[in-house]
Formats: sequence, C-alpha cells, structure tokens
Amino acid sequence: MSTEQSQGPAIETMLLEQRRYQPDPAFVQQANAKAQIYQSDPDEFWTEEARRRVSWFQPFTQLKEWNAPFAKWYLGGRLNVCYNCIDRHVESGQGDKVAFHWEGEPADERVDITFADLQRRVVRFANGLKKLGVGKGTPVAIYMGMTPELPVAMLACTRLGAPHTVVFGGFSSDSLSSRMNDMGCEVLITQDEGWRRGKRVPLMQTSAEAMAASPGVRHAVVLRRTEAEVPMTEGRDVWWHDLCADVSDEPESCPCEPMDSEDVLFLMYTSGTTAKPKGIVHTTAGYLVGTATTHHYVFDIKPDTVYWCAADVGWITGHSYIVYGPLCNGTTSVLYEGTPDFPDKDRWWEIVERYRVSVLYTAPTAIRSHMKWGPEYARKHDLSSLKLLGSVGEPINPEAWVWYREHIGGDRTPVVDTWWQTETGMIMITPLPGVTTLKPGSATQPFPTVDAAVFSEKGEPVPPGGGGYLVLRQPWPAMLRGIHGDPERYQETYWSKYEGLYFVGDGARVDEEGDFWLLGRIDDVMNVAGHRISTIEVESALVDHQKVAEAAACGRNDPQTGQAVVAYVTLKGGQEGSPEMMQELRQHVARKIGKFAAPTNIVFTPELPKTRSGKIMRRLLRDVAEKRQLGDTTTLADPAVVEELSSRGRELAASEEA
Ligand code: WT7
Repeated sequence: MSTEQSQGPAIETMLLEQRRYQPDPAFVQQANAKAQIYQSDPDEFWTEEARRRVSWFQPFTQLKEWNAPFAKWYLGGRLNVCYNCIDRHVESGQGDKVAFHWEGEPADERVDITFADLQRRVVRFANGLKKLGVGKGTPVAIYMGMTPELPVAMLACTRLGAPHTVVFGGFSSDSLSSRMNDMGCEVLITQDEGWRRGKRVPLMQTSAEAMAASPGVRHAVVLRRTEAEVPMTEGRDVWWHDLCADVSDEPESCPCEPMDSEDVLFLMYTSGTTAKPKGIVHTTAGYLVGTATTHHYVFDIKPDTVYWCAADVGWITGHSYIVYGPLCNGTTSVLYEGTPDFPDKDRWWEIVERYRVSVLYTAPTAIRSHMKWGPEYARKHDLSSLKLLGSVGEPINPEAWVWYREHIGGDRTPVVDTWWQTETGMIMITPLPGVTTLKPGSATQPFPTVDAAVFSEKGEPVPPGGGGYLVLRQPWPAMLRGIHGDPERYQETYWSKYEGLYFVGDGARVDEEGDFWLLGRIDDVMNVAGHRISTIEVESALVDHQKVAEAAACGRNDPQTGQAVVAYVTLKGGQEGSPEMMQELRQHVARKIGKFAAPTNIVFTPELPKTRSGKIMRRLLRDVAEKRQLGDTTTLADPAVVEELSSRGRELAASEEA
C-alpha cells in the first residue's frame, strides 16, 4: 500500500469500506480537471465545452430546450460527427498521428491506422455505401467483430448522415432481425466470420438467417476476415472489397453531410422489463459534446495519451469511449479484436507493454477474471506506462478495485469507477482524477453539472447514509432523446415514477461526505458481465421451446460475472427434466438471444411459486438461487410449491458443488 492514503482497516464490506486514496500531488499538478470545475455554472460549462471540443459548420444559437421529458441541445447548430472525429484532425496537421493501434486476435496481425489512413478508409467505404443508395437518413445495421472496419463502418454512416445501429456480434439471428425490423434497416454491414478465443464466430451465416426474417434489408456488405466460405445471395450481398474496388478515397469525393444538432446519430438497443428491447435514440451534437468532454476530464487525456477501452464496440461503452469521444479528442487508442486469455492470460498485459498504454478502461467482470488467474500474468510485463485505470458496467467490489490498483496500476494510478448507462450516453457519476479522493467501491461524485440524487419510494430525497432510488434531476447533453417509435414507453419507463425526474432503475446510497455508492438494478433486469439482460427476455426464449410450459429467470450473484442467470422451468405434460434437456434449453436461449444470455443453471420444477393473482414470486426464486433461507411465503397460492422448490434448490446447490 502506498503512503499517500489515510488508511483505515481493510474491511471487506462495501458499507464499511474505509480506505481512502488522496490524489497524488504530482498528478494534481498536471490534471485536466481542477477543483473549481465543480463550481461551474451548467449553462456556461456546456456552452464553453461545445465550442472548445467540437467544430461547427454553423454555430448553435440556443444551448438547450427542456420540455420534460423531451430535451434538445445546441439548437440551430450544424455539424458532422465524422468531420469532428477525423477530417479536422487531418486538416490541422495530425494526419500522421495514430488513431488506432489495432491487433487481431491471431497474434501475428497488427496494424497502426493513422488519422489520414482512417480518413481514406472511411471515405472509400462511404463512397461504396452511396452506390447502395445509403444517404442522409438511411437506417443501417452493423453486425461485426472488433475489426478496424467496424469503426470505419460507423464513421462512414455518420459521414453520410445515415443513422446506424450496431448489434453486438454475440447476439443471435432473432435478436439481429428484430432490431433491424424495429429500426427499418435497409442495409446490413457484416463480415464472413469473427475471431473469439481462437474460435470462429459465424457472423455472415447468422446475418443470412436474420435477413430471411428482415425483408426490408436490401443489401448486405460483407467484410472478408477469416476467408471462410459463406452464403452470399446474388444481387443482395456484396463483398466489402468489391464494393470499394473502384471508388475514390479523396475526402472531396465524399464531403461530410452537415447535420442538425438534433438529427439522429444512432440507436442502441437495450433490455428493459418487457421482452422487446428498447431502441435508445442518441442524437448528434449533445452526444458528441458530452462524450468528448467526459472523456477529456475523466481519463485526463493528453496529446500523447495512449488510451485503451477494452470493451466491445457493439455496446454503448464502445460507441462513446472507443469511437466517438476519443476520436473527437484526436486520441490514440488501442483496438483489440479478441479475448484477454488468448493465446494466454497475459495477452492484455503484453498489449499494454507493446503500445505503452497510459489509460486502461475495463469492466469489473474482466478485473475479477484477472484476479482469479493471478497477478503473475501482469507481473511478466512492464506496465509502468499506465497512469490511470477505469472501471464500468456494474458495481466494483472494493477488493477488486484495490487489486486492480495494486497489481495493474502499480499502487500508483488513480482508479475511476464510472457510473452511467446506455440511456445516459456519457459518464454521469465518477471521480475526477487529480481532484477526487477515491474510495474503493464508490463511483464518488456526479460529473460537474450533473444533478443526481437518491430518492425514497415516496419521492423525497434520502438523507446521507440512507439507501434509495437513483434519480437525475436535470437534463444533460448526451441524454437519450427517446425510445425509437415508442414515446409512451419512454415516458412510462423513465419519467413516470417521479414527475419530471429521470428514473434510473438503480439503487444507490449517498454517504456522509456526499459520495455515491451504486447498489445494482432494482427492476427485473440482470447484469451479467456488465450487460443488461431482462429476465423476461430469457423467459420468453425458454417458453418458445416446444417442451416448455412455463419459465422464470432470475439473477444469482456470481463471483466472476457479477450475476449469472438461473432459470426455473416447468415442462409440458408433467415431464421430468434431465441434464440433456438442460443442455437443449441452454442452446435454445443461446440461439434466440445469444450465448451470453444462456442460463448457467436450470431448475426443473412441476410448479412455479405464484401469488394468488398469478404473479411469479421472483423474490423466492432468487432466494432459492442464492441458496438463502426463503423469505416471507404467506402470499403464495400453493405453499406446497415452496417445499418442492427448496428441495430442488438443495439439489441445485449439491450439483453445483459437485
Ligand atoms: C447499468 C447500465 C454504461 C456502460 C455499460 C453498461 C450498471 C454501469 C456502473 C458502475 C455500478 C454500474 C447500472 C446501470 N452500471 N456502470 N460504475 N457502478 N453500476 O451499460 O448495459 O446500459 O447498463 O449498468 O446498473 O444502470 P448498460
């Protein structure tokens, strides 16, 4: 442990966490954020940041318009995100600066892509897309692995003013087609296959299945990555390299489309409490200003920073903090295609050493994997270039936080635990390095100008020390503008619990010093490896199987992934479950949603515990899954069910220990 902290006892409970890490004076000296930043006037702050960090084709005339729950930011402004992320850096002489150090998972593939290279690639691909009729307003789906062409595809869309939706490459064909249908996508950009832990991911095969259920998709563009044989449909599917063979890569051949501040930039689908994913709408100016500004201060970005956000571009973290925020700031990033343990468990540390990475941003689930593998993998490499570490996706346990700082950060680097959501677009609660005293397990303070509070059920602010529901009281630039095609659901999900306040769906506690401690989701949404999956989506996928009569899913604490999915299933016709049936159902969920949503365990039961009104008592199921004493069962319709479940719960415990 370092000397800069005033140490308390190393108590493991989050509630009693006493360790403190004061900013290092040398870090304070050079930090982008100064303590006064918290005194900023919100309107002045966001006006100034917008002028400083973004180039406008036409300046905005009004900062914001707030008719709760509908916000507009930077009214009257015109700009282009691709221009801000690429062209202006090239124009200002930064063309030779590396934008991405890309590494393929097969260890022999590496390429440094400068801003000038990126511009040529994006212009070329945008010209290709134009041939397929893509222009301002054309909805485009992107379903790819972490190749350099993934950000190229996103940026080409933004250059043309075509809104995109990136669907994470782990999703199934059903998930892909339902998103494409909801958005009305006309073009799909994909690749033959992806690499993951040495295995091939059949992206084009899955895309072909999805397109069969998405007749609105006129064309697929297919990148060649592994050179596998894939099904190509004549007239519809075209190879990326063929599409781009005869087009110009001169920036003038494809100018950046001037967009209105409030034009849609992209949709990102996320889980909620119904089976239908929500298409979260993000628009142009507020999103870009919000992500670039937070990226600058939270990660203390300097011109020579080598930054690595190890998330997948297919989730919001990758959009905001691999692609748009960092490129807008002209930052050099690492982009890595594969998993941390391929070919061995020191792959990440080898990458940090090779590129002299100074900022690393990842999720608690990854940190816990490294913890489990042991610090010797990190010790094999020179990690002295690291200046700052970040965490996102779920609450980080104090032990993982301290391990991360000690074994990866050399007991020297600040660790910023950043709280935010797909909906917020940008980091909302976070320490500012060089300013904030860090507490392991706490995301500490709202970002300057962000108005967060903890409310009671009745809608009153909870005094320090108490727990409640997290709310946001003021609009912020990168906030969602709605749910695609469903304004009622937008109102209902986020704005109906408390009048005029954004309801986050997370529990939280504020301590005596005003620091926030996030306590996880309070709705029926599980957080598996930092990603939201709703219980109902898993249940619908299970019930979709012909042998399943009824199903309930819930999350159970998991030392590695945060939560693991446990499902309870009643089979049709009183059939008994079997290990084979469990395998079959897991595969079925993987096919319907994606592998990451497949239950780690399934309990077969003749009856699910229900209230007299027929509601499944999830609390009881969670108790069984956690192997806890069952709580109050007095509202159960049939108490005998509980006896049965408890004994099955004991079997579950025994089978897992085996
Ligand atoms: C939910 C949002 C935004 C990036 C990735 C997930 C949980 C996120 C933290 C954190 C505690 C966190 C919340 C939130 N979450 N970051 N630092 N501490 N919880 O995006 O899929 O939209 O999930 O992730 O529960 O509501 P997402």
